Amino acid sequence: MDRADIRDQHAQDQHIQHQQERLVEIRNLTIDFAQGNRLIRALHGVDLSLDRGEAVGLVGESGSGKSITWLAALGLLPGKAKIGGSVMFEGRQLLQAPHKLLDTVRGRRVAMIFQDPSSSLNPVLKIGKQITEALSLHRGLKGAAAEAEAKRLLDRVGIANAARRLSDYPHELSGGMNQRAMIAMALAGEPDLLIADEPTTALDATVQAQILALLQDIRRDSHMAMVLISHDLGVVAENVDRVCVMYAGRLVEEASSDRVFDRPRHPYTRGLLAALPALEGARRRLVAIPGTVPEPWNLPRGCAFAPRCGEAEESCHRGQPPQVSVDRDERVLCFHARYHVDPVHPVPAEPAPVAHVAASGHAVAVIAQ
Ligand SMILES: Nc1ncnc2c1ncn2[C@@H]1O[C@H](COP(=O)(O)OP(=O)(O)OP(=O)(O)O)[C@@H](O)[C@H]1O
Ligand code: SF4
Ligand SMILES: [Mg+2]
Repeated sequence: MDRADIRDQHAQDQHIQHQQERLVEIRNLTIDFAQGNRLIRALHGVDLSLDRGEAVGLVGESGSGKSITWLAALGLLPGKAKIGGSVMFEGRQLLQAPHKLLDTVRGRRVAMIFQDPSSSLNPVLKIGKQITEALSLHRGLKGAAAEAEAKRLLDRVGIANAARRLSDYPHELSGGMNQRAMIAMALAGEPDLLIADEPTTALDATVQAQILALLQDIRRDSHMAMVLISHDLGVVAENVDRVCVMYAGRLVEEASSDRVFDRPRHPYTRGLLAALPALEGARRRLVAIPGTVPEPWNLPRGCAFAPRCGEAEESCHRGQPPQVSVDRDERVLCFHARYHVDPVHPVPAEPAPVAHVAASGHAVAVIAQ
């Protein structure tokens, strides 16, 4: 074997290893909702992938498309939604998949928890009953075995007196305890992926921090992957490896959490950061992004963020910005991503060269660091 063969073999091995690590691969996901007799596009070709054990954050203001991305991926949107693209879970296509496959994936392999426990916990069933039902459905546990496992799960999520709490109804628990019970239910199927959609927004800051720490603990123990959805960039970046920022149905920036905090490239990400209170150092004035996310049926021509963007130029109002790949794992959807590479010493703006068109249909430009 000469050097070139060894290199090829190494690249092939790396590719195979990467494929084995890949849990979810979403490509060019689109969602159209029927409104009267026309279709309104709410998601515009989202590409997103997740490896085993990885934690990814999805962040953006209300209406950005965070929830519908995962509801669509798991076949949970109402029938009037038309979904396009591809969602592979461990190499199997989930879009338009038979119910049997979706039933084995949802709940068991992929679990979801929501901001409002009342939407997932049944108010007229005892907590223990709800968890043992999930254990029976996903793991075939019955009777004393299911009850013992339900108690173990409540213990695991930090509910004191777990044995007694099994016979409580949801209204007998505090908001934080209900949220823990919902996490216990989600863990009943020993999922490979947990999608936590605003899991702590309704809780006070102390309980929020406890729940997020609990999720981190569980991930460390079980090598479970997690998607943390939130409008709070601070909460997300502290709890995940990689952050995806969404705006008006598009993914506008993707990078490691550190990178997003240290050198945000998209003006929208900078806006989200400027609106966050400083955790340490001198207090500074918070700057809210003016305006709101446009409705899907009322998107401006060109870049959807342009009407709110302090850095918009004429070209931004004319056409869709290209998706710029800054590095292997970093992408930015902005005409001036090159300019934003280093905000302290910016390179004079010039349009980045368009290299090819991604699966999502966005033009992709590649720039050197
Ligand atoms: N069933 C539906 N029918 C029509 N439009 C919908 C439907 N569900 C969501 N949308 C629209 O899709 C867009 C994205 O909604 P989504 O719920 O994903 O936002 P989000 O980023 O999760 O916001 P939030 O932070 O408020 O939860 C919104 O404009 C919303 O109005
Ligand atoms: S493309 Fe233009 S309007 Fe859009 S975020 Fe970039 S600079 Fe702002
Ligand atoms: Mg949502």
